[in-house]
Amino acid sequence: VIELKDQVGPDRLDELMELFAGQWWTARRTRDDVEAMLRGSGLLFALIDTSINRLVGFARVITDGVYLAMLLDVIVANDRRGMGLGRALLDSVTNHATLVNVQSVELVCQPDLVPFYRQWGFTDQVGQSRLMRRTSETVLIS
Ligand SMILES: CC(C)(COP(=O)(O)OP(=O)(O)OC[C@H]1O[C@@H](n2cnc3c(N)ncnc32)[C@H](O)[C@@H]1OP(=O)(O)O)[C@@H](O)C(=O)NCCC(=O)NCCS
Repeated sequence: VIELKDQVGPDRLDELMELFAGQWWTARRTRDDVEAMLRGSGLLFALIDTSINRLVGFARVITDGVYLAMLLDVIVANDRRGMGLGRALLDSVTNHATLVNVQSVELVCQPDLVPFYRQWGFTDQVGQSRLMRRTSETVLIS
């Protein structure tokens, strides 16, 4: 049985660090920074498999509640992919009361995930817009 939670408690931090360890853009995150991030993130989406009490999916959203929301760190546990958990995360995000009326929801992804996000109305047709980034994390610009 999969349950959606809107927080990640201290008891789940190890499991979240494990999810992050497996992804190229989150692998270098430290525990302290992730704890601070969780406090500052706004909306958290955590999928718990209650039968084994384990965090199996995660996403978070930063938003002003009106014009813009940024969807970040969408991750399903390696051994649980292809079973509908990613769909459950995106359904939860796009139907969330705070987000249904937000003008734009934006995300950054690799080309192979464009078809995945299209299923929820995301498009990579953004006119002349360009993503620009000022970052201290070199993995994001190489
Ligand atoms: C992307 C990710 C979250 C998808 O989660 P998932 O649980 O495997 O996805 P689901 O099983 O819910 O798939 C839902 C639907 O999307 C489709 N889908 C999954 N990955 C896809 C892809 N890369 N491209 C196109 N469609 C895809 C599935 O076929 C499924 O369609 P169906 O319901 O018609 O069968 C997961 O693969 C993941 O964690 N990847 C690594 C982390 C990552 O790169 N995250 C994205 C950051 S931008």
